[in-house]
Parts: sequence; structure tokens; C-alpha cells
Amino acid sequence: MSTLLPAPDRARTSRLRDALLAAAFTADGLLDLLGAPAYAALARSETVPALRATRGDSPLETLVRLFLLQRPAPYARAAAALPVDDCLAGGWLVRDGGDGDSVRATVDVRPYGGPDGQDWWIVSDLGCAVGGAGGIAGGGAGPSGVDRSQLVLGVGGASTTLAGLTVRTPVASALDLGTGSGIQALHATQHATRVTATDLNPRALHITRLTLELSGAAEADLREGSLFEPVAQDTFDLIVSNPPFVISPGARLTYRDGGMGGDDLCRTLVQQSADRLNDGGYCQLLANWQHVEGEDWRERLSSWVPRGCDAWIVQREVQDIAQYAELWLRDAGDHRAGPEEYAARYDAWLDEFEARKTKGIGFGWITLRKSGADRPSVVAEEWPHPVEQPLGPAVRSHFDRQDFLRAHDDAALLAARFVLADEVVQEQVGLPGAEDPEHVVLRQNRGMRRATKVDTVGAGFAGVCDGSLSAGRILDAIAQLIGEDAVLLRDRTPESIRTLVEQGFLTPVAE
Ligand SMILES: C[S@@+](CC[C@H](N)C(=O)[O-])C[C@H]1O[C@@H](n2cnc3c(N)ncnc32)[C@H](O)[C@@H]1O
Repeated sequence: MSTLLPAPDRARTSRLRDALLAAAFTADGLLDLLGAPAYAALARSETVPALRATRGDSPLETLVRLFLLQRPAPYARAAAALPVDDCLAGGWLVRDGGDGDSVRATVDVRPYGGPDGQDWWIVSDLGCAVGGAGGIAGGGAGPSGVDRSQLVLGVGGASTTLAGLTVRTPVASALDLGTGSGIQALHATQHATRVTATDLNPRALHITRLTLELSGAAEADLREGSLFEPVAQDTFDLIVSNPPFVISPGARLTYRDGGMGGDDLCRTLVQQSADRLNDGGYCQLLANWQHVEGEDWRERLSSWVPRGCDAWIVQREVQDIAQYAELWLRDAGDHRAGPEEYAARYDAWLDEFEARKTKGIGFGWITLRKSGADRPSVVAEEWPHPVEQPLGPAVRSHFDRQDFLRAHDDAALLAARFVLADEVVQEQVGLPGAEDPEHVVLRQNRGMRRATKVDTVGAGFAGVCDGSLSAGRILDAIAQLIGEDAVLLRDRTPESIRTLVEQGFLTPVAE
């Protein structure tokens, strides 16, 4: 283990937690101290506004400077904020090289608010709390002595996206594969009796233990190894992974480069997950995938889905290969290398994409559910629009609705009752002053925030769905109202009802 990581010790860590709470070194406390602009800047790895906001000597300011801004603090000032000798003995702090009368932190400790208002802290390597390894190359107090390839990142946008997407049903067992700072494992401790966290990088397992201990969460079963190797004998109710999904020309940074060619790491995770899931269990991954010349991305991704699993694949963004290469060159700090080295590295990325006939890279979410269905539902769709997180409940109800649709033919659908989802509104689109709208749109203000065009029958039908009448009875009433043949209307409408159910506008009422 690296020399620069604190040693796990529950008693010591708990005294440190007490001090952090007493000083209001929490997400709310930080926001109050820094103000929104400096707080937001810190989340972008910009430290100047926060440095200006912490020029005083309150315990909270001292803690922010030590653990977030990587500045040394005079021993006496640190002692006013922390059990400083404990922290020195436990390795959270070291004596600063200069005058010896100052201390500095060995890890980044970032306040993080849990979903139910919990005060949590995420531990990561210095300079890696947000963004990538680029912060290290940028100078400042880097984690000297830490092999760059083994850096452990803190909370990024991808981490919080996955945490929000995760289905939070209480379960017996959960696996966080590629745990890093331990953020997904920390969330899982709130609703899983047993949490297993794995990582190829032993530093990450150590840091996960610190994150859990400092946040006062239950312990996790920590296992070192690649992909599903460390859990080859186990199965889980929930698997989550924000894996090293970057499609890159070589494995330089463990936190992002999976070290397998192209998108093989994500494909392998998807394919192998079915064997590690209990019946009804969910596997939720973030992934990047290639758009290969001459291949439809939806078909390519759908072909990864293992037998017996339903899948919902959502493509959130597509980048062209140049944008993608530049993003990850910057993440590694390569844009600060000399122009020749930068050009050589850029070339290597483009060579890799050319060799693999890659035209673009998709980024998105993959959720599998082990349904055991003979006719699995595999939905692969593009949805680049804003959504409302946390989406976990929407993910779960997507799969519930797929079960319903699979089990109901058209006759059964017409016999079923539905309710309109919360906060759906109707928009009428047309020329100003026109008597009738050109079309009507139903729009969700929650969850996926979908919008769908409907005809007047569809809009009227949705508006009446309060769970009291069957779909067939509602259609009969509409037929009478508009003077249409009720049998014909019953014949032509089930497809539209299916679409409204599939997209979450209508929820079936339990029979
Ligand atoms: C993008 S980070 C995710 C960290 C954290 N779970 C989160 O959501 O922020 C990916 C993690 O996967 C780990 N990793 C890399 N290759 C792996 C492999 N082959 N098997 C398991 N974990 C791996 C890295 O060490 C890193 O901690």
C-alpha cells in the first residue's frame, strides 16, 4: 500500500468524523461558507474563489484549506479544528516539509450530502476530487509518491449520474464493481444488507474503506481483482458499475482505461453480468460504445444483452472521434505536454479509432434485469434531453411496465385500468390564432421528461385515466362523443395505449 494513505482505524476515524461535524464541514456547511459561485467553482476543480473565501481562521475554513484546497495549516490552527495528533498517527495528516510546525492532508476529503440528508464524506487522492488526473499534471500539491496510473478519483458527474439512476429497492446483496472512492458502495449500504466492493486497484479498496468509515456507514466486503473475477462464486440482487469505460489507445490510467480493446470491457461486463445476478436482480452500468462504420449502434448494443435479461439502453450523447480524443487528452493533462508529444498522443487515439472503423462514441446507461422472460424486452434508445434525477424509481417502473405489456394482449389491455402519471401536461401546438391545434403533445415534468405527440383521442383518453374505468369503457365513451364506431376505435387504439404505457405516461392499476 502506498505510504500516503491513512490507516483504517474505526475509533480514530470516528473522532475525526465528530470533528468534521462539529465544524460543519458538511455539504450544507460548505455551501454556506463559500457561497454558491465558489462552491460550484470547486466542483469544477477551480480553487481560487474558495481560497479567497477561506482567509479566516475558523475551524471550518481550516478544514476546507486542508482537505479540499490542499494547503498546509499551522499545527495550532489545525489542532483547533481536529484531533490533530490522532490524524497524524492515523496518516490523515503529515507534518509539512517546510518549518515542521505545519501539517497537510494526505487525501482529499469532500463533504457529500446523502439522499436522505446524511452527512457523508468521499475520500480520494489529492488533486483528483473532481475531473481527472489533469489536476495532478497541473501542478500544485500533487500526491507525491503516488503512481499516476493508480490514482483514485473522487466524485465526478458520472458517479452522481449512476448513483441517481440506481434502483434503491431494499435488497440482500449488492455489488459495486470498480468501486474507486467507494461512492456507489456507500449509497448501497443504505438499502443492501450485504455490500461487496471490488477494484483492480488496491488503493481504491483502501480508500473505499476510509470513505465508508468516515461516513459512519456499514462495512463492505472489499475484494481486489478484475471485472467479475473476485466474485466468481457469488450472485447479487443489484450490481452497479461506473467502469473504466474510456475507449483509448492504451491502459494508462486505471480509473478510466479498461485496458481491453475498443468497448470490449463494457461488452464483457454486460455479457457476464447475467451469471452474477439473482432472479429479478438489476445490473446498472455507465458505458461508452463505438459507433462502427456500417453498423447500427442499437443492434450492436442489443446483441450484447445476455439471454434471460430485459435491457434498457439509453444513449445520452454521441461525440465524434476528435472531440472524444480531446476530452480524454485533457482529462489526463496531456494538453499541457509539449506540442509534439500532444500531437503524437492525439494521433495514437485517431489511429486506434481508424483501426476499429469507429466513427463516433456513444455515452449512456445500460440497465439489465434478470427477468428470465422467453421474450425479453430490449429497448435501445437515444434520449439526449434533460432528465430529473434521481431516476431510480423511473428505471424500476420502466421494467414493471415492460412486464405488464408482455403479459397483456390487446384484449387484456382494453380490460385494464390506467392512471395518468404525475405532472403530465398537455401542450397544443399550432399557428397563432388557428382554431384547432396542428398537434397535441403530452409532456412529463418528472423522471425522463418525455414528450409524445398524440391525436385528440389519445389526449382525451389520457386525460380521463384516473384508474376508475377500464381502457375499453373509456374508448366506448369517446367513440360516442365523437361519433366514431366503438368497435373500430377499440381496434385501432391499443397500439397508442401501449406506447403511452411504455413511455411512462400511463401507469397500469394493479389488478
Ligand atoms: C471511473 S472509476 C469509478 C469509481 C466509482 N465507482 C465512481 O462511481 O465514481 C472506475 C474504477 O474501476 C476500477 N477498475 C479499472 N479496471 C478495472 C477492472 N478491470 N476491474 C475492476 N475494476 C477496475 C478503477 O480502478 C476505478 O476505481
